Amino acid sequence: MPFLRSRRKLLATALAAPLLAVGLGEAAELRAETDAMTVYKSPTCGCCGAWVDHVRAAGFAVTVRDVDDLAPIKLMAGVPAPLQSCHTASIGGYVVEGHVPAEVIKRFLAERPQARGLAVPGMPVGSPGMEGPNPQPYQVLSFDSAGGTAVYRTVRP
Ligand code: CU
Ligand code: CU
Repeated sequence: MPFLRSRRKLLATALAAPLLAVGLGEAAELRAETDAMTVYKSPTCGCCGAWVDHVRAAGFAVTVRDVDDLAPIKLMAGVPAPLQSCHTASIGGYVVEGHVPAEVIKRFLAERPQARGLAVPGMPVGSPGMEGPNPQPYQVLSFDSAGGTAVYRTVRP
């Protein structure tokens, strides 16, 4: 029955088109959401500014919020005390604390793991925005809302 077959084919095509459109729309939305980053930093912090330049150069759309006291923001973001650094950022529903390399953030956002965010504790020399003599290897940690931490990447500059 050629009529039925062609009808079925037509129906399949008609169904596939909107599905494809929805899929692409969702991807675009996710992209927009994971590209837009807000960085909270002290107005006088030079290394924070250098890190913002680093993530902007990697393609993130960054909004900078200069604040005098970052403690309440780190508390709200749920950054464990031992993991704290200078600036705190939010992107795609995650928290990024300190001098985390943009490439590591991209990988994390693509994987979307069950975690609160990423942190590079302190300010290791050799991390993006902390360039200097004698760069040292450092760890990017992931952390969850219960205060648990795990090594996400070890970076050797
Ligand atoms: Cu810093
Ligand atoms: Cu900083």
